[in-house]
Amino acid sequence: MRMRNKQRKTTILGWNAGSRCSMPAMVWSLVGFLLLLHFYSTLHKTDKAEETRLQMSHHSFQELQVVEEENIQIPPPRRRSPRAAKRRPRKKTTLIDEFLDENSQIRHVFFPDHRSAIDPTKDTGNDSFYYFPGRMWLDTEGIPIQAHGGGIMFDPLSRMYYWYGEYQDVPTFIAPKGLARVDIIGVGCYSSKDLQTWKNEGIVLAAEEANETHDLHKSNVLERPKVIYNEKTGKYVMWMHIDDANYTKAAVGVAISDYPTGPFDYIYSKQPHGFESRDMTIFKDDDGMAYLVYSSEDNSELHIAPLTEDYLDVTPVMKRILVGQHREAPALFKHGETYYMITSGCTGWAPNEALAHAAESIMGPWETVGNPCIGGSKMFKLTTFFAQGTFVLPLAGLPGSFIFMADRWNPADLRDSRYVWLPLIVGGPADWPLEYNFGFPSWSRVSIYWHRKWRLPSGWSDMKR
Ligand SMILES: *[C@@H]1O[C@H](CO)[C@@H](O)[C@H](O)[C@H]1NC(C)=O
Ligand SMILES: *[C@@H]1O[C@H](CO)[C@@H](O)[C@H](O)[C@H]1NC(C)=O
Ligand SMILES: *[C@@H]1O[C@H](CO)[C@@H](O)[C@H](O)[C@H]1NC(C)=O
Repeated sequence: MRMRNKQRKTTILGWNAGSRCSMPAMVWSLVGFLLLLHFYSTLHKTDKAEETRLQMSHHSFQELQVVEEENIQIPPPRRRSPRAAKRRPRKKTTLIDEFLDENSQIRHVFFPDHRSAIDPTKDTGNDSFYYFPGRMWLDTEGIPIQAHGGGIMFDPLSRMYYWYGEYQDVPTFIAPKGLARVDIIGVGCYSSKDLQTWKNEGIVLAAEEANETHDLHKSNVLERPKVIYNEKTGKYVMWMHIDDANYTKAAVGVAISDYPTGPFDYIYSKQPHGFESRDMTIFKDDDGMAYLVYSSEDNSELHIAPLTEDYLDVTPVMKRILVGQHREAPALFKHGETYYMITSGCTGWAPNEALAHAAESIMGPWETVGNPCIGGSKMFKLTTFFAQGTFVLPLAGLPGSFIFMADRWNPADLRDSRYVWLPLIVGGPADWPLEYNFGFPSWSRVSIYWHRKWRLPSGWSDMKR
């Protein structure tokens, strides 16, 4: 062994002379050379990515990565008579209990009232360029935006952003299984050029009032609508979660339109691959291929499947991912050649911890890379800032930077659920990577930074496509 090693070394040293090269030695040298080349190119690539990231963070992104801290105190218990206290000792409350208690004394911290609403009809000076996660958010007519569980599509034809979501401007009631819900009204759509001021484009897919057997009858459930544009057919295609009031149908629905502002024609619903499908999303890749991701098997795992070319159905190919991890509310995005996904746990309307996942191939395997939330407080990190993710929007012209869109659900009055939009940045080593590639972690960290108030990097609109 030792002898052969020594000999190889000599041979490599003698490479330039060329005279003593034996055939196997040349093959070994070539292998060594290629390995070195691979190593240096990996190193170089990482350096390059890091360099870009640092440049960005030093200029436009510095502001986004400075997080704010929160110190929300649980209020002292209300006074009760000593006899009442003796009869029924008070349960210890947590910040999540306070959040879920519509009569909490600190309700305004999570759901600030209309006085602090973001209102584009009023001149608020510099504040009109900022996002205020959790505040009421009004459209260009001064009416609260109704686009819950939504997603945004950039339309290449009109060069506008369209935000689609559940229109929930009706009273909340308690369904048979004790879950707060609203009747289906339909899918709301808002348009914007700057991602800041949103014009109401109306309800682009409406509930069925009369036909009780129709999927969109108001007594059923329509959640998490997402729209993508199909270049080949020139159609806008909407996918959504369709269910009955008891969540036993567990299906996806598909609708289609010639225009981003609808009206969308409802086509059908199905259980993809014959499996339950509840929380879901669709993702369109750079190459025009689109995918459906859905929570299945009682929400214990996610399934991912390519869509057909027209985006109107799933293909028979399906992969199970994050098996046994009980994740929902998937939001997919891509940076470089890597796919990322943010998911939530399954705790109904109550907030829980988000996780980021990464994959080299969209069909998996997917690996969990950690909790992406930074700032606020420990409780903010453990509750995704008291919200649940719904979509991740890439910021055109700023590789590695995204807007994380989440819903701060208000089960006491679902139409008053708030939007929590925060900057998401991909870069730096992940928290939980187990695999190393030549000493470099395989995955980048995904970070979502907490801000009470933040704005897109100045000049962002100039950087757009
Ligand atoms: C707006 O921002 C500029 C620069 O940061 C500042 O000088 C000005 O006072 C601000 N105006 C208002 C109304 O806050
Ligand atoms: C009601 O909806 C079902 C399912 O979509 C459909 O088959 C039926 O034709 C509809 N009935 C009417 C009266 O429109
Ligand atoms: C839902 O469950 C309730 C009570 O368990 C039942 O009365 C009702 O018929 C169910 N509805 C559907 C649509 O399955």
